[in-house]
Amino acid sequence: MVYIGIDLGTSAVKLLLVDESGNVVREVTKEYPISFPHPGWSEQEPEDWWSAVLASIPELVSGVDAGDVRAIGLGGQMHGLVALDDRDNVLRPAILWNDGRTAKETDYLNEVIGRETLSQYTANIAFAGFTAPKLLWMKANEPEKFRKIAKIMLPKDYLVYKMTGVHATDYSDASGMLLLDVQNKRWSQEMLEICGITESQLPKLHESWECVGTLKPEVAAAFGLSASVKVCAGAGDNAAAAVGTGTVGAGGCNISLGTSGTVFISSDRFGVDPHNALHAFAHADGGWHLMGCMLSAASCNKWWMDEVSNDTDYSREQAKISPDKLGRNHVYFLPYLMGERSPINDTSARGTFTGLTMDTTHADMTQAVLEGVAFAIRDSFEVAKSLGIEIPRSNICGGGAKSPLWRKILANVLGIPLDMVTTEQGPGYGGAILAMVADGKFASVQEACDKLVTVASTTEPESELTRLYDERYNQFKEIYPAMKFLFPKLM
Ligand code: XUL
Repeated sequence: MVYIGIDLGTSAVKLLLVDESGNVVREVTKEYPISFPHPGWSEQEPEDWWSAVLASIPELVSGVDAGDVRAIGLGGQMHGLVALDDRDNVLRPAILWNDGRTAKETDYLNEVIGRETLSQYTANIAFAGFTAPKLLWMKANEPEKFRKIAKIMLPKDYLVYKMTGVHATDYSDASGMLLLDVQNKRWSQEMLEICGITESQLPKLHESWECVGTLKPEVAAAFGLSASVKVCAGAGDNAAAAVGTGTVGAGGCNISLGTSGTVFISSDRFGVDPHNALHAFAHADGGWHLMGCMLSAASCNKWWMDEVSNDTDYSREQAKISPDKLGRNHVYFLPYLMGERSPINDTSARGTFTGLTMDTTHADMTQAVLEGVAFAIRDSFEVAKSLGIEIPRSNICGGGAKSPLWRKILANVLGIPLDMVTTEQGPGYGGAILAMVADGKFASVQEACDKLVTVASTTEPESELTRLYDERYNQFKEIYPAMKFLFPKLM
C-alpha cells in the first residue's frame, strides 16, 4: 500500500509517494508563478495549483499498481483567500499569506474591534496575511466580487474541493483565518459578523486526519487512480511539517526554513501568548501549537542568489564562507523583503544591508543573508522563551535546512542542537502520515510519528561560536528599531 503527501507551497507543489513503512518511493515537484502586482502584494492563480497537481500525480504513480494507492493528505500554504462564486468559478487570484495589502483592515481589527476582543474570539490578533482582513479588503475594494462569494476556502482546501467536491478544511489551517474560535474549534459567529460573511460560505471543519471524501470519478481517471482513494482534511503547511518531523504532543519544536521561516512549538494543551506575538493555533495531531512566522526566510537567499547575484549554485557560493568568518561578520541583513509578521508585525518594514565597507565581499553579504534570517528566527524564539517555554532542541526542515552551513549558523545563533529527520520535506511527509491515519493504518498521528519518523543527523552548537553569535544578535536587534520610522517614508 502507498500514500500520497502533497505540499502546496508558495513556489511549487511537492508531491511524495510514501510506502506503508514510511519510505519515500518517489518525489515530483512542479513550479508555478507568483505575481507581485504592487510592492508588498502577492497573488497566485488557484487553477495553476490544480494544473500542477493534475500534471504531477500520473508521473508520481507511474508504474505503481493503481489499487495500491490508498489515500491522499495535503499540507498547504496557510491564510490564502480563495473565493468561488456559486458556479465554482474562482472570483479573483488568491491573496497569499505574505501579502501586505491589508494594513488598513488589520489596523481596524486590532484598534477598533480591539486586540483583546479579537483574542477572546479567536485566540489571536490580526496580522496582514490572515484571511479575515483580506475579506474586509475585498469587501471595501471589490464589492461586486465580494457579493458573489459562495465559498471561501484556503489554498489546500481548493485542491481537496477539486479532488472530492467536498468543501472542507481542518482546524490547524482554519486557525490562521482569524475566523475560528481556536480553543473551542468552531467558527466564531462574532468574527463572521465583523467580516460580513455567513457560516454557509465557510468549509466544514475537520481534524486533519479525518477522511473528507473520495476522488471524483473524473479526477480518479485523470490521476490514473481508483475512485476509492480517500482524501483527508490535511493541515496548514506548518502543522503538516510538524507531523512530518515528528513534532507532535507536548513540548516539541520544529523550525521550517522554507519561503517563510517558522518556529512551531507543539503542545497538548491550549495556550495563548498574552502579547499575541506568537500565533495560538490548533495542531494536526488534535492538540495545539504556538508559532512565530517570518515572511521571508529561504526566499531571502533565493532572492539574493537568483535575482541579485544571478547564480543558482548555492553550495558553491556558501563554500566561499570560511569557518573562521562565522560569528565575526560586520555586515548585517534585515530579511524583511515582504514586510514582517512575527514578532514585529510591520507591513512597511523592508530588507537592508548594514555595515558595508570597501573590503566587504560578495561572500560576506551571502553570509549576512543567512545570518539575518537566523537572527530573525531567534526573535520568535526569544518571545517563546520569555513565556517560560523551554526549547532544549528543535527539529528543522524546509529547503533552507538542506544547507549544512545554514544549519550550523542557526544552531549557534539559537544555541541548541537541530535535528534533521530522514526527509527534509516536512509538509509533504506530514500529509502522507495524515493519509495513513485516515486510512486506519495507525490509530493516531502520534502513533504514526512514533513508528515512522527518525532523526537522521544532528547539528550541535559550539560554545565559542554561540558566544560570538550572541554578541552579533545583540547588534542585529538594534538595527530594526533604529530604522523602523524610516520605512513608511520609503513607500
Ligand atoms: C504561517 C505562514 C507561512 C505559510 C507558508 O503562518 O503564513 O508559513 O504557511 O506557506
